[in-house]
Amino acid sequence: MCGIVGYIGPKEAYPILIKGLYRLEYRGYDSAGVALLDGDLKLFKTHGKVADLDKLVSGHKLSGHAGIAHTRWATHGEPNDVNAHPHYSPSKKLAIIHNGIIENYAVLKEELINRGYVFSSDTDTEVLIHLIEDIQQNDGIPLEEAVRMALNQVIGAYAIVVVSEECPDQLIAAKKGSPLVIGIGDNEYFIASDASPIVEYTKDVVYLEDEEMAIIPRKGELIVKTITNQEKTPYVFQLEMQLSSIEKGGFPHFMLKEIYEQPRSIKDSMRGRLNALKGIISLGGIIDYEQKLINCKRIIIVACGTSWHAGLVGEYLFEDLARIPVEVEYASEFRYRNPVIFENDVVIAISQSGETADTLAAIELARSKGATILGICNVVGSSIARATHAGSYTHAGPEIGVASTKAFTAQVTILSLMALLIADKKGSISKSQFYQLISEMEAIPAKVGKALQSNEMILEISKKFQDVRNFLYLGRGYNFPVALEGALKLKEISYIHAEGYPAAEMKHGPIALIDKEMPVVVVATRKGSYDKVVSNIQEVKARKGVIIAVVTEGDEMVRELADYVIDIPETDEVFVPLVATIPLQLLSYHIAVLRGCNVDQPRNLAKSVTVE
Ligand code: AGP
Repeated sequence: MCGIVGYIGPKEAYPILIKGLYRLEYRGYDSAGVALLDGDLKLFKTHGKVADLDKLVSGHKLSGHAGIAHTRWATHGEPNDVNAHPHYSPSKKLAIIHNGIIENYAVLKEELINRGYVFSSDTDTEVLIHLIEDIQQNDGIPLEEAVRMALNQVIGAYAIVVVSEECPDQLIAAKKGSPLVIGIGDNEYFIASDASPIVEYTKDVVYLEDEEMAIIPRKGELIVKTITNQEKTPYVFQLEMQLSSIEKGGFPHFMLKEIYEQPRSIKDSMRGRLNALKGIISLGGIIDYEQKLINCKRIIIVACGTSWHAGLVGEYLFEDLARIPVEVEYASEFRYRNPVIFENDVVIAISQSGETADTLAAIELARSKGATILGICNVVGSSIARATHAGSYTHAGPEIGVASTKAFTAQVTILSLMALLIADKKGSISKSQFYQLISEMEAIPAKVGKALQSNEMILEISKKFQDVRNFLYLGRGYNFPVALEGALKLKEISYIHAEGYPAAEMKHGPIALIDKEMPVVVVATRKGSYDKVVSNIQEVKARKGVIIAVVTEGDEMVRELADYVIDIPETDEVFVPLVATIPLQLLSYHIAVLRGCNVDQPRNLAKSVTVE
């Protein structure tokens, strides 16, 4: 996710733009930039936070009544000055800011290079502004038409604003798959990724729909049309939210907002990588290492916390689908226990922040022994990303809540893509199984969205358990890591002790804990060793235990036994972790809120553990 802001009107644009970027910094903060129309088009941008941009600009006397600004969360191209937005067109008479992912940027870039264009950045965004100017100049058509024609060649997601030195009385905006809102003031217009930079100036806003564009005038009426050139009558909403909640998208906490972002973040993590129609998975980031993965005798996954739980799902995926032995290691243990590491080992390091000290140290140890290191990180250009030989970024966007939610499902999404890709290349699964699985995988974002619909019911369940002192989480097979992750979520934000266990392990000790004071969450989805899990539930019930069960919708057997049942949509066993985790995230969230805990910043915790 990135933050974009635009202004056109009678006021000085820069103060409005920079304040808007501060409001949007939660959406991304690895680089920032601004472009202002003051006769000619002036552009400033820098690696770092919005404050670094403000400092850079402070040395210049800036004026101008129209401009665009951007705070970046990198998806293509390292966070640095060159890759920061805005991006100039070749003539430097146009500039663009963009939030989204252009999936076919490489093809478009190659065509433009063949037509003699030169690029300065690694971004997909710079390709779009080159394409717009190429169309405008070669066909001598107006800017808005050139933008419209260019967008018809784009595959992917975008929220863009374009400013032109030659058309100083207008800004052009467009949207598909990424949010964009236009504020209507008194002879002035504001554009932003959400209403937080706008609400202090006007409550009248227009939300562009997908594949819509807007011609925003310095004076006069806003024009909205589709990129297929159909005029639309803009619908003006009245904003009611207070600024403080808008940065959270109307949610009371970043954690809940991020839980609800998962249909989008999972889809973004698959975007440009999974094409069920063509029956292909392509992971550009590791393409040069596919053979290493196919031929390796062992995969070692190193991570911490929630990322370690994602790694455990990865173990089940790689062994089950690709038939490659996997070891999942706590990075903090791995780095000190003098592990045996072979040159043909492939190490996969998983980290949301990309800065976890133990994981970084584990990578350095494995690299010193000659292993191949692949990364799965959420922060482009992070220390861990740069320490690996290659990798695939999750496209979850900034995760502000300390408790990791959307990063976990995005990590599992990447691991699922990797395992399926290698399994298909190795032939360890049949082509029909591969096609069936990737077709089901495309349906996962919608199934996660359906799982979120249990939120209200989960809130009611949470009210019964807000004062308990211990929880047990049980699961088997792919649901064992889900049980561990559910337990970690609960304990780290509600401060209730919770343990995750393989369901079958209960009779080897933990069953002694069971009584009516000990709620037991059981992930009992229909796939895998379902009958065995049902027996475990009966064992708990026989000891007066209280069962909260996550089941596949339509399940009757567990419903007969459990005290509380949360349905999730049916899916293939290998994808159950992506869906079964959702109710456990919501359960922990609501219990923590009911206990008055600081959900986004739990006590004693930090978002990124950059120390040992
Ligand atoms: C997850 O909810 C925790 N905040 C924590 O366990 C986290 O997953 C762990 O510190 C690893 O962080 P990383 O993914 O940024 O490396």
